[in-house]
Amino acid sequence: MTTTQPCQPCYIITGGAGFIGANLVAQLQKSEPDARLYIVDDFSTGSYANIVEACARIDAGPFAGTIMPDSITDLNWQPAIMGLAPKAFFHLAAITNTLEFDEKKMIAVNTEPFIDILDACEESSIPLVYASSAATYGTPPQAETHTPFPTDAAGNPSNVYGFSKWLMDVQTQRLFESSLIDSATLPHVVGLRYFNVFGQGEARKGKMASMIYHLTLQMLAGNNPKIFEHGQHQRDQIHVDDIVACTLAAAKPTAKPGIYNLGSGITTTFNDIVDGINQALNTNMSPDYIPMPEEMIASYQHYTCADISETTEALGWTPQQTPSEAIIQYATELAHEYLKATATQS
Ligand SMILES: NC(=O)c1ccc[n+]([C@@H]2O[C@H](COP(=O)([O-])OP(=O)(O)OC[C@H]3O[C@@H](n4cnc5c(N)ncnc54)[C@H](O)[C@@H]3O)[C@@H](O)[C@H]2O)c1
Repeated sequence: MTTTQPCQPCYIITGGAGFIGANLVAQLQKSEPDARLYIVDDFSTGSYANIVEACARIDAGPFAGTIMPDSITDLNWQPAIMGLAPKAFFHLAAITNTLEFDEKKMIAVNTEPFIDILDACEESSIPLVYASSAATYGTPPQAETHTPFPTDAAGNPSNVYGFSKWLMDVQTQRLFESSLIDSATLPHVVGLRYFNVFGQGEARKGKMASMIYHLTLQMLAGNNPKIFEHGQHQRDQIHVDDIVACTLAAAKPTAKPGIYNLGSGITTTFNDIVDGINQALNTNMSPDYIPMPEEMIASYQHYTCADISETTEALGWTPQQTPSEAIIQYATELAHEYLKATATQS
């Protein structure tokens, strides 16, 4: 099936009003000012302000794209994609509240529309890049041995959010398998399992914003940071700029289709996060260790680390910042904003 390519290149970005989506939109607008950007977002957790601020932060100019304030569940994707013939489709919209336990709702939003989008992109030969998650891993054996997660270790998620993302990967894998039987060439679909993402633009995620964000605000308010006993949990933390760069790289014609980890490949303990924030704020606050609630213990990911060897090879991308540098930089930025806001209030 062929599509009519309009003269002006365009991109569809679902979830473009969210934390990562808005950063991606701004970068796209800056790097391809002639491209038309179509954001599909129902503003359930996103906001216009994320887009405005993200564009301002990197001098991308005022947002000049189109907003479709629809739910991804309500659109008929086949004609929409055929009509716009985007240069690439970035699918980031999702229920991102990992504490949402309504299983029907989670799968109806996170998985079902994706299947339509996948079919429509494949049929129209449109490159598709989508956000999967480290939550697809749950706690694999590598978490016990403290070794980076290879992509084939996923599939035992510990919550319905992770399960909804895992089902996206299953569907993609199925498409790859059937394509190899039919044509020996894989459609341009790249699934990226984002690990713990932090950085500018996440404030409106509220409770779901990163630990780095929450701990910095606690410490700026003069309170000791509260972390689970004894701060030894380790997570793969990655700055949003690296996430954006890799997501864009995944849409390039040179990218190899597949499902990849998108993390820094480095673990950071919760104690390390506090140390980094102390360094940024020039403080010496000690953590208040709190016990983990009983009901969280079994499903808590106490260790995550992305094996990014396949990602770097297939997408030609490498992280530009180490988590420790990026945490200090980000906490410093948050401190400046905090001081500015408190000065304006007084
Ligand atoms: N932030 C992280 O650490 C992280 C980690 C792993 C995966 N991810 C994935 O990355 C993507 C972006 O996450 P984020 O951190 O920017 O979260 P976010 O909540 O800020 O962004 C999600 C966006 O999707 C929109 N949305 C939700 N349901 C929708 C629907 N039915 N129709 C249209 N739009 C809808 C929201 O309004 C929001 O703008 C998500 O798919 C998320 O699962 C994020």
